[in-house]
Amino acid sequence: MAHSGRPHVIVTGGSSGIGLAVARLYRARGARVTLIARSMDLLEEARQSLGSEGTAAEAADVADRAALEAAVSRAVARFGPCTILVSSAGIVEPGAFDGQPADLFDRQIAVNLTGTANAVRAVLPVLRQAGGGSIMLVSSGAALIGIHGYAGYCASKHALRGYAGALRSEVKADGIRVSICYPPDTQTPQLARELDSRPPEAQVIMGKVKPVSAEVVARGIVAAIDAGRFETFFTPTLWALARFGPLVSPLIHAVFDRQIAALRKGRGRA
Ligand SMILES: NC(=O)c1ccc[n+]([C@@H]2O[C@H](COP(=O)([O-])OP(=O)(O)OC[C@H]3O[C@@H](n4cnc5c(N)ncnc54)[C@H](OP(=O)(O)O)[C@@H]3O)[C@@H](O)[C@H]2O)c1
Repeated sequence: MAHSGRPHVIVTGGSSGIGLAVARLYRARGARVTLIARSMDLLEEARQSLGSEGTAAEAADVADRAALEAAVSRAVARFGPCTILVSSAGIVEPGAFDGQPADLFDRQIAVNLTGTANAVRAVLPVLRQAGGGSIMLVSSGAALIGIHGYAGYCASKHALRGYAGALRSEVKADGIRVSICYPPDTQTPQLARELDSRPPEAQVIMGKVKPVSAEVVARGIVAAIDAGRFETFFTPTLWALARFGPLVSPLIHAVFDRQIAALRKGRGRA
């Protein structure tokens, strides 16, 4: 139970991809880090790769509020009050809205939106007790425009933007800074799985943009937390989409529609 003055960072989704890369940066700064995810095997592998002294792992599903709160309590008992939460746990299930089981839509909302809210709910009392801190929500470029085949994912990640805006205002007076980021395609196990099931319509509108590395996204996340920046977009295109999206989205949708119609015509389906 002896706690040093070292910062304690909790990372949901910390066993893989972006979350793991963020955890690695904080470990390099000497922070104590708690990783939260479901698979204990993956967590243990990640913990070993970060150096087991100063890194802890807690197995919990972010969609299970009670399990997540218990995991956060154990983490705080072990490493002391957490002052930074990075909520990176997330899933994507590409497929046409009415062509996939309803459970897949519900699950994306439960993990990406409600799971994030559960993580914030679990740490808020700790952050308040510590006199302040930072919360970073990992959304997606898919929050900024509707993408064919990503109804559940887009809905969950769009919703995070509204949630972050409201939360930011509510906790500001407590010295808690809320940030949100919108990564583009990023080289992680999630992207590798997603590309296998990405519908051709989505592929054609998303083009052949080269994914960025998880390290680049992690550096952007840590810099945003350091600066207390509210929104981070990583690329000029996503920045422009966020700033001018409502103005230009009718045009973007028209371009997307044409690209999809051409694809289908080419396949003899138009
Ligand atoms: N990769 C991209 O192109 C990209 C682009 C934009 C945004 N993002 C977002 O970035 C975040 C991280 O994605 P990533 O690409 O780093 O994916 P990843 O490599 O698959 O890592 C996802 C992490 O979340 C955990 N996780 C998944 N479901 C969970 C649940 N219900 N409860 C607790 N932990 C859970 C996973 O571990 P377990 O499976 O063991 O639970 C893993 O640690 C996600 O929110 C994703 O939507 C990714």
